[in-house]
Amino acid sequence: MADASLFSADLISPEVQAALPEGYKLRALEKKDYNDGFLDCLRVLTTVGDFSQEKYDAQFDKLKAQESYYIVVIEDPSRVAEGKKPIVATGALIIEHKFIHSLGAVGHIEDIAVAKDQQGKKLGLRLIHALDFVAEKVGCYKSILDCSEANEGFYIKCGFRRAGLQMAHYY
Ligand code: ACO
Repeated sequence: MADASLFSADLISPEVQAALPEGYKLRALEKKDYNDGFLDCLRVLTTVGDFSQEKYDAQFDKLKAQESYYIVVIEDPSRVAEGKKPIVATGALIIEHKFIHSLGAVGHIEDIAVAKDQQGKKLGLRLIHALDFVAEKVGCYKSILDCSEANEGFYIKCGFRRAGLQMAHYY
């Protein structure tokens, strides 16, 4: 695995790659993505804040060392010629290792975001399928996520169903 990549390219689904619009590429998050639109995609979802490349790198190294973080990005390199950043979508899968279910593993899908000018092209659906592929390959028996009522229809289209109730303590 190249040091600059969060996880191995073996976990990138060839089927999802083949289903993307021409020229688009699905891959693991890389260190260079600090400046390539990854953080701008996340800004579609929530506040990100401003931090240096050095701090981004330290966080990247921390996540990589845990070997449980799978963050994918979709890029469209042709945007660079128009002065835009290449990354147009991102999503994360975090693996929780358990004692129950015979040392089972659960995938947590987080931080799904598609750039505003790229929404409605099935990139969100492809992200979820890409993360499902990773979850199955690393041995998860299920993946779960929290979302707003407004996004329920999207996740139903992705094959999820409503299960349980979310509760929170904020610190
Ligand atoms: N409600 C109902 N259906 C939807 C919605 C929605 N909010 N969004 C998309 N769909 C449908 C589409 O119409 C499409 O249906 P079709 O197959 O019948 O044509 C299908 O879901 C797939 O849609 P995509 O084109 O893949 O959706 P898109 O690429 O626009 O991504 C997303 C959807 C991720 C919600 C995007 O709009 C986005 O980034 N929104 C802002 C950030 C956000 O809310 N992220 C999710 C947070 S929850 C989490 O991270 C776990």
